Amino acid sequence: MATLKLGVLGSGSGSNMQSIVDAIEKGELDAEVKLVLADVPDAKILDRAKKHNIPCQYLDCAPWKTKLEGPAEDECIRLLKEAGCDMVVLAGFMRIVKPKLLAAFPMRVLNIHPALLPAFPGVHSWTQALDYGCKVAGVTVHFVDAGTDSGPIIVQKAVPVLEDDTPETLHARIQVQEHVAYPEALRHLASGKLKVEGRRVRIG
Ligand code: GAR
Repeated sequence: MATLKLGVLGSGSGSNMQSIVDAIEKGELDAEVKLVLADVPDAKILDRAKKHNIPCQYLDCAPWKTKLEGPAEDECIRLLKEAGCDMVVLAGFMRIVKPKLLAAFPMRVLNIHPALLPAFPGVHSWTQALDYGCKVAGVTVHFVDAGTDSGPIIVQKAVPVLEDDTPETLHARIQVQEHVAYPEALRHLASGKLKVEGRRVRIG
């Protein structure tokens, strides 16, 4: 069992990164956030990192809009390694990560997705669940592989869909569970007991 050394990639508010930092500060998770990178210069995740004195910076991912590739991917790997990260946490990072990053951190890249995968991969999953008429939505924390939201699942939490839900109310209820699920998944990794057998993740 070793303290996880996390590099967090995000694009937005960073509430998931906050839930991880809070769990660490409460002594509920044996980890350190070594670096936060955002592909949006004024992303709130950077402000949150600064408040906790976590090294952070903007990563310019141009010219691509939806993926992390080329010089930006190389720079990302360099920064994560230089900061001593041994695990990469995608926390609302709205880009597809490519095989080079995955090879630099084999089975050490995690993502949180606001749906019960394999249902509704991709974007605005909570709206997809609502439009489909689902009675249950949720959240998935999974290892990242070369596909889209397709890697082995570590933790899932279900959330009821209410009759008067809007995309906003449903997403807000899903986010409450996200903030439980990500620290929980990381605790399983920190315990050293987690084993991946094909698609199946066994915990203890
Ligand atoms: C979260 O709901 C997360 O599940 C979602 O973005 C939001 C980020 O919130 N991620 C995806 O949709 C990835 N495909 P945050 O910036 O407050 O953590």
